Amino acid sequence: MQGVFITGSDTGVGKTAIGAALAWQLSRQGRTVRPRKPVESGCAEGTGGLRPHDAEAYHAAVGGAEPLARICRYLLRAPLSPERAAALEGRTIRLDDLITACREGVRAEDFLLVEGAGGFYSPLAEDALNADLAAAIGLPILVVTADRLGAIHQALATAEAVTRRGLVLAGVVLNETRPCADPQMDNAADLARRLGCDVSVVRHCNTAGGVPAWRAIAPSLTAIAASLAAPAAG
Ligand SMILES: Nc1ncnc2c1ncn2[C@@H]1O[C@H](COP(=O)(O)OP(=O)(O)OP(=O)(O)O)[C@@H](O)[C@H]1O
Ligand SMILES: [Mg+2]
Repeated sequence: MQGVFITGSDTGVGKTAIGAALAWQLSRQGRTVRPRKPVESGCAEGTGGLRPHDAEAYHAAVGGAEPLARICRYLLRAPLSPERAAALEGRTIRLDDLITACREGVRAEDFLLVEGAGGFYSPLAEDALNADLAAAIGLPILVVTADRLGAIHQALATAEAVTRRGLVLAGVVLNETRPCADPQMDNAADLARRLGCDVSVVRHCNTAGGVPAWRAIAPSLTAIAASLAAPAAG
């Protein structure tokens, strides 16, 4: 099955913005994209219950084609790691639950897009880090990191962790969550010569008009979407 597991060097680096932009790109090309954010912590209380902000972005990105409850199975209140947020509610979520949530309703011809939570070694469940879910699902990994000073270390450390798990590194995205502060910084060039995978830059976009970041950056994800959805060689 084709797909991608989106991980990050950290929380708040743009995993959802990149993932939803990819989902939007592939959906409008006619692919059936199955986004999965199997567990989301920090959900705000809404009139109809807890609202999973990331899952809502994916839901919008695929034009509402995938039910929200399928995108995110486990909604948690506390803005902490899912493991800790679940414990605070007296709930136990295990790796097998997350694997089931990712696979449910996905057919062989679909494109499965999974976003973990936090970074590759952040805890997702009582018995699992993001790395464990990624290894169980087995999809290529896209690493998102904020394009700022320190990004090279963060990207290389995450990339090494991914390959040590025997997983395929599909690429690294340097995301300008904030406008680039120093025009002489070139993390993409400095990373590309140290990594044997695609390194892309996504520029900061202005979201002042209420356009979600994922929609504003979507045009710059065309090449990554095409390479992730390319037919397997041979
Ligand atoms: N290229 C960009 N330009 C402008 N804003 C951006 C960009 N990328 C992300 N953002 C904004 O940065 C914030 C963090 O992004 P996002 O929620 O995608 O991160 P995340 O890694 O998925 O976070 P989490 O770990 O909470 O899931 C959001 O407010 C998002 O709209
Ligand atoms: Mg997110």
